[in-house]
Amino acid sequence: MANKIVVTSGKGGVGKTTVVANLGIALCDLGLRVALIDVDFGLNNLDVVLGVENKVVYDILDVFEGRCRIKQALIQCGEHKNLFVLPSGSAKGNNIISGQNLSVILENLSPLFDYILIDCPAGIDVGFHRAVCCADSALVVATPNLTSLRDADKVISILKSYRMQKISLIINRARGDLITGQKMMNPLDVQALLKTQLVGVLPEEDAVFLSVGNKLPKKCESKKAYKILASNLHIGNKKIFDVTCKYNGIFGSIRRGLKNKI
Ligand SMILES: Nc1ncnc2c1ncn2[C@@H]1O[C@H](COP(=O)(O)OP(=O)(O)O)[C@@H](O)[C@H]1O
Ligand SMILES: [Mg+2]
Repeated sequence: MANKIVVTSGKGGVGKTTVVANLGIALCDLGLRVALIDVDFGLNNLDVVLGVENKVVYDILDVFEGRCRIKQALIQCGEHKNLFVLPSGSAKGNNIISGQNLSVILENLSPLFDYILIDCPAGIDVGFHRAVCCADSALVVATPNLTSLRDADKVISILKSYRMQKISLIINRARGDLITGQKMMNPLDVQALLKTQLVGVLPEEDAVFLSVGNKLPKKCESKKAYKILASNLHIGNKKIFDVTCKYNGIFGSIRRGLKNKI
């Protein structure tokens, strides 16, 4: 049976959909079968991030309303033969599909996969609760700035009222140059502030921004960071990607100076 994990944040634009797509690929690279479910009705874009938007024929609403079987709506993602996405439909789904309905759909998928990652909408209203109530555990994505951390804190306290097996924290868009220069919060300080286990630190990187509809280059830092995140999640490792290492020492401080000048 699949491990069902909701990826949430409260705040929009912090990287939930990006994390769902790239973590899905990293888990798949570990040999696992992964389904990615977009439950951001109306503002769905997981198919776009994965570059499969042209393959969408049916969506989750078609499954619910019986126009297709669940396997017909699943889209296989390019070269990753064990990675599938179930796209979300129009905003109409918001009023039609309840948390219970969604749970039934996910239960049907569960025997086919090792992981089901649920891409949660922003906010803490009905869409958030619908996504969260179907999950066994939660990954809270936050960026290291005060507005995102405040929302993450609120979301974590709401998640605690659900019977989650685990609530873990991912820091996205961490900047090694700013952390070394003490202009950005250190991920370990964020972990202490939010009192939530840190399971991954992901660097801010142009390659991520530019990779929409495409895959990350093999040698980019984010690829390594997602690999570490996937093994932390699956094997229980506690390794954290060090975003500051290339900004330490003499060459690091030159690199930092150059980056801050640009
Ligand atoms: N680590 C990162 N480095 C650079 N850009 C990022 C990173 N993570 C996300 N982004 C960009 O931020 C934007 C918002 O990300 P998205 O995943 O859509 O957020 P959300 O789903 O939380 O609304 C996208 O343009 C995405 O490419
Ligand atoms: Mg999103």
